[in-house]
Amino acid sequence: MRVYLDNNATTIVDPEVEKLMNPFFCQMYGNPNSLHQFGSETHPALSVAMDRLYDGINAKDSDDVIVTSCATESNNWVLQGIYFDKIKNADKNHIITSSVEHPSIIATCRFLETLGVRVTYLPVNHEGVININDLKEAIDEETALVSIMWANNETGMIFPIEEIGQVCKEKGVLFHSDGVQAIGKIAVDVQKAGVDFMSFSAHKFHGPKGVGGLYIKDSIALTSLLHGGEHMGGRRSGTLNVAGIVAMGKAMELAVKYQEYEYKEVTRLRNKLEDALLEIPDVFVVGNKKDRVPNTILASIKGVEGEGMLWDLNQYGIAASTGSACASEDLESNPVMEAIGAEADLAHTALRLSLSRFTTEEEIDYTILHIKQAIKRLRAISSTFSYTPKNHKSGL
Ligand SMILES: Cc1ncc(COP(=O)(O)O)c(C=O)c1O
Repeated sequence: MRVYLDNNATTIVDPEVEKLMNPFFCQMYGNPNSLHQFGSETHPALSVAMDRLYDGINAKDSDDVIVTSCATESNNWVLQGIYFDKIKNADKNHIITSSVEHPSIIATCRFLETLGVRVTYLPVNHEGVININDLKEAIDEETALVSIMWANNETGMIFPIEEIGQVCKEKGVLFHSDGVQAIGKIAVDVQKAGVDFMSFSAHKFHGPKGVGGLYIKDSIALTSLLHGGEHMGGRRSGTLNVAGIVAMGKAMELAVKYQEYEYKEVTRLRNKLEDALLEIPDVFVVGNKKDRVPNTILASIKGVEGEGMLWDLNQYGIAASTGSACASEDLESNPVMEAIGAEADLAHTALRLSLSRFTTEEEIDYTILHIKQAIKRLRAISSTFSYTPKNHKSGL
């Protein structure tokens, strides 16, 4: 059996999405900017896709959504655009973000720091969420942008986006949210949230890789990252990825359609898996169920190295993740676990399990069985885990 529980890394393309995008590779492959029929025959599908994108996030119109190549580009664009518009050419010099953002935000902020920008990285509590008062205190007259994610990729914890939007509005500061891990999992309404910019990526909600987007409220002026053409109303150059845009539009439509199902059914399966894990002694899960996206569990299993667990589960066809740092060869602890204050040995035991609407009950039952067996095997050979009378009795 093959079980895919790494949906926060990427998702399967929905068959309906695949079917819709296929003709744009070998039949309707024209460049939309060309004046002949090969170009113009792509226009209706592109227009439907753009409408689906703005409907899906409740933007005002399709001009407010710019298609990019991925959310990494969207995040870079906002931060670097703000640098040119508000920092280099104006009197602001401060960006606020959180300490648990995706590397595409953190690394770009570090880069801007080398150019002299002041960046505040807000701390998070033990559940991995910022405190709204810390944000209020951090904003000053030099603040050009607040960039806080909608939901965290590792913990799945949802940030208080509407409250953050309100604070930014009151203080007259622009607000960007990285919405990558929210779309398809919870309702994303850019107007209600009060965001000025929001990044997203198709491959996280059952669309293909290599296509993403940036919502820009009321088409606010933002210096382009890519220059060289008049694509996307002159805002983002590069020949349009027609198949990708058509696919992302459909994936967005399906994300909205299945959202209620996601909430109920994916939450039910996630809770079944989580409750089974929590029955095992010395297993912890980060964050509470209520404020978390329905599909994510970030567990810490005492005495079990995350990488050992991944290797063991992989033998049984189960795909999971340990989180960014542990997934590399760098043996530093998981930065998000560190940010929430987990002790160093626990930060090495992170196991992220992320479901999708394609996950089945049979797969969850199979995973529970194999995780229990893996914990037994790995704790038996662990140099850091010692059995107490309680956990010895459970055999785990
Ligand atoms: C929260 C978050 N932001 C941004 C990204 C980057 O997305 P992309 O793969 O489209 O560049 C990811 C991908 O893991 C993510 O989880």
